[in-house]
Amino acid sequence: MNETLATILRRRSVRVYRPDAVAQVELDRMLEAGRYAPSAMNQQPWHFTAIRNPELLLKLEESCKSAFVESNVEALREVAKQEGFSVFYQAPLMVIISGDPGAIAAQYDCTLAMENTMLAAASLGIGSCWTHAVMMFYATEKGKAVFRELGVIFPEGYQPYAAAVFGWPAEPYPEAPPKNADCVTIMD
Ligand SMILES: Cc1cc2nc3c(=O)[nH]c(=O)nc-3n(C[C@H](O)[C@H](O)[C@H](O)COP(=O)(O)O)c2cc1C
Repeated sequence: MNETLATILRRRSVRVYRPDAVAQVELDRMLEAGRYAPSAMNQQPWHFTAIRNPELLLKLEESCKSAFVESNVEALREVAKQEGFSVFYQAPLMVIISGDPGAIAAQYDCTLAMENTMLAAASLGIGSCWTHAVMMFYATEKGKAVFRELGVIFPEGYQPYAAAVFGWPAEPYPEAPPKNADCVTIMD
């Protein structure tokens, strides 16, 4: 198996991180890989916000958590009650990719950019986990206000489409969860 395929198969959602920062050199490589993702008509309608400030990450996480606790969606309240519930898993880096909603396919473009970023991280031994919870929080009025208060702002008119945390795994990579192979039709 070649290295690219091995990296794709090895990547797992990592939920236990060491506190060590992701250095600039690694972050640059990850973001470059993100920027090289395909995009509709090569519009590249994205912006990458990389948050490494520990205080800021902590404040964002606490706000997301309290939004879960107070949510009117029962399933979210239940998740938030679980022992050790965490949104960011103490990861030292979060990347949010925002995009121009007026572009042809901003959500797809940003999602592809995030997958590239995550795969590049995996190739460097850096774990990642998509954190949709952040997007759910941002979708609320309170969430938008908290982002603004904390100074996490996106280019004018852009909206965040993808968020993931990154860091050095504190444990060996988890086993792959079951992956269904019964989802392919080949028409020769
Ligand atoms: C759109 C999307 C949203 C996700 N949201 C979360 C999340 O909020 N929290 C989390 O821990 N994992 C989240 N995940 C990670 C999935 O749980 C994970 O990818 C899945 O269980 C498969 O595991 P693997 O990534 O190790 O292959 C999300 C993944 C995707 C693609």
